Amino acid sequence: MIYFDNAATTYPKPKTVYQSVMAAMTEYGANPGRGSHAMAIEGARVIYETRELLAQLFNLDDPMRVIFTFNATDALNQAIKGVLNSGDHVVTTAMEHNSVLRPIKEIEKQGVENTIVQCASDGRVNVKDIEAAVKENTKLVATTHVSNLTGTIMPIEEIGQMCKRKNLLYLVDGSQSAGVLDIDMKKYNIDLLAMPGHKGLLGPQGTGVLLINCDSVIRQLKEGGTGSESSSMVQPDFYPDKLESGTHNLPGIAGLNAGIKYILNKGTKSIYSHEKKLIDLFINEIKKNPKIKIYGPEDIDYRCGVVPINIEGIDSSDVAYRLDTEYGIAVRPGLHCAPLAHKTIGTDKIGAVRFGVGPFNKKPEILAAAKALNEISANQ
Ligand SMILES: Cc1ncc(COP(=O)(O)O)c(C=O)c1O
Repeated sequence: MIYFDNAATTYPKPKTVYQSVMAAMTEYGANPGRGSHAMAIEGARVIYETRELLAQLFNLDDPMRVIFTFNATDALNQAIKGVLNSGDHVVTTAMEHNSVLRPIKEIEKQGVENTIVQCASDGRVNVKDIEAAVKENTKLVATTHVSNLTGTIMPIEEIGQMCKRKNLLYLVDGSQSAGVLDIDMKKYNIDLLAMPGHKGLLGPQGTGVLLINCDSVIRQLKEGGTGSESSSMVQPDFYPDKLESGTHNLPGIAGLNAGIKYILNKGTKSIYSHEKKLIDLFINEIKKNPKIKIYGPEDIDYRCGVVPINIEGIDSSDVAYRLDTEYGIAVRPGLHCAPLAHKTIGTDKIGAVRFGVGPFNKKPEILAAAKALNEISANQ
C-alpha cells in the first residue's frame, strides 16, 4: 500500500514509536503518578520527559503548561471553551476545521459572539481582514496554521504580532503543521497551541496536546482524580493537574515521546524540505493533465503537506476507490471536516481527493500516484 492519507494520521511511525508503546505496556504498565512504586514512577518520568520535549520543540518555558489531551479536537475544545465567557467575541477564519468551528458555534448559544473571516479561493487569509474583525469585546483569535483541505500556510507570525498589539489571546491549531513547520510560541506570540500527537508528531492515535503560554484563566471542562491534593473535593488550581483528570494514556504518550525525539533528531527543516519536494514533484507531474484540477496556493512556499484534486467528470469517491483497489494507493475523498473551507475553494458540493504526504513517503510513490491519476482520467 502507498499511503497518502498522512493528513488524517501519519503512517508508518518510526520503529521507536512502536517499541516505546510496547515497552510502556509490558515493562512499566502501571498507573503513572498514582503509586509510589518503581513502575508508577517510571511512567510518571516518561510523561514528564514528554512534556519537556514538547516545551523544547515549541519553545515554551514551563513544561508543566503542556497539557495532554486525547486528540487535537479535545485540546481545541479545552482552549476555546476554557477561555471564552458570555459577552466575549472570538475571531476565526473560513479555513478552520470543524474542531474549531463547532465549539465556537456551540458557545454562541451561551452568548459568545464570533466573526468568521473569509479567505481567498486558494485558502489564504489577509491579516488586515482579521484585524478589521476585532471588536471591543474580542478576547480570542483562533486560526489554523495549515489548512487540512488545501495545505495553505497561514501567516501566524503576523497574526500573533497583531494579537499582541491589540492585547488579544491567540490560539493556533497546529494539527497539520506540528512536527513539520517551525512553531516558536514565544517568537510568534502564540498563547495557546493545540495539536494532535498522531499526525506530524508521529505518535499513536489517542494523543493530543495543548500548550499554554499565557496567564489567562482557563476553566477546566472536567473534574476528577489527579493524584494530587487528594484530600480535597475541589479540582487543583495548578497546571497540568487542573486540566488533566483521570488516568493518562501512558502507552500513547510513551509513543509520542519517541515520535518527538525522532523529529528533534531529524529537525523540522529537513522534514519540511522533504515533504515540500514531494509535493512540488506531484503538482508538476499532474498539472500537465488538463482534466485534473488542483486546489490551494500555486506558490509552493505557501503550501504544506497537502494537495487536494479532482478529476473532471469523476466523483472524488470513485477516484479514491480506484486508487485503492486498482493501484493500492490510500487517499481521502469527499468532504474533509471543514465546510467553509470547501465553500471557499468551490468544492462544497463535489468534495475533493486529498493527498497528504508524510516523512516516509518517497519520490517513486509520488510518480506512481501521478501515473495512476493520469490513467484514471484517461479511462473513465
Ligand atoms: C486542521 C485540523 N484541526 C483539527 C483536527 C482534529 O484533529 P483530531 O482528529 O486529532 O482531533 C484535524 C484533523 O484532521 C485537522 O486537520
